[in-house]
Amino acid sequence: MGHIPSEVLEQAAALVDQADRVVCLTGAGVSAESGIPTFRDAQRGLWSRYRPEELASPEAFDAHPGRVWRWYMWRLGLVERARPNPGHRALAQLARLVPHLTLITQNVDSLHEAAGSPDVIHLHGRLDRFRCHDCEQPYALRPQDREADRPPSCPRCGGRVRPDVVWFGEPLPPRPWQAALAAVAACDCMWAVGTSGVVYPAAQLPQMARERGARLLVVNPEPTELDPWATITLSGPSGAVLPALVARVAARRSRAESRGGA
Ligand code: APR
Repeated sequence: MGHIPSEVLEQAAALVDQADRVVCLTGAGVSAESGIPTFRDAQRGLWSRYRPEELASPEAFDAHPGRVWRWYMWRLGLVERARPNPGHRALAQLARLVPHLTLITQNVDSLHEAAGSPDVIHLHGRLDRFRCHDCEQPYALRPQDREADRPPSCPRCGGRVRPDVVWFGEPLPPRPWQAALAAVAACDCMWAVGTSGVVYPAAQLPQMARERGARLLVVNPEPTELDPWATITLSGPSGAVLPALVARVAARRSRAESRGGA
């Protein structure tokens, strides 16, 4: 990952090394190198004619339940075939290097868990979980549901089954949101990795961290809405930047230990 100067990486590693409580917020970009398209990349193939806002919303589900169901079955297949990339694995390693790491994701895949990250906070739900749109009863997806043209019916109330994800215009699940707020309120270093920072309230978290005096690292190959708040921006793909950054944190920690430091 040639174009991040070594001293910038070292500065970023120093910020992390000095921190006691680190929070990392990830977005779709951290899964891009696992083959899962981000939201604001143009939709690929047969879904290219729709914007996510036209599929991931209660209104779209009411108007076109079959279309929305088929889109989620397509995405579920993508996610199930995907494997964690070096960026996910670096974040799992980071949890073993810093005293307190809270990993918050906007992603609905479970690649952080697959890479070994513990206690991931999912702000926007999970694509591998389903529930009734009406009575909220959890639903275990059956093989035949994947090929269906329409959402299954809830065995309890007959309502339509949907993925347990947060759609545009819907509130975030309260417990994950409260946990995220508490972690940000206590952190001294925050990372925002692979997120455009355009969707609220998640995008508020890095700003809240900065307003409290925490340092903010932004990792993204492109400029983001969060850059004005960043202490350091590391411009590159997370699959390359995160392993390099975490390796430097590990090196600093082992040097400190060999010096008998904290
Ligand atoms: N490494 C790091 N970042 C990357 C990479 C990569 N290899 N490839 C792309 N990105 C960045 C893009 O530059 C962009 O800034 O990932 C970001 C993806 O942005 P979005 O598609 O807006 O995804 P995200 O920020 O997670 O969206 C937030 O919006 O659509 C809703 O609920 C959905 O959780 C999603 C939320």
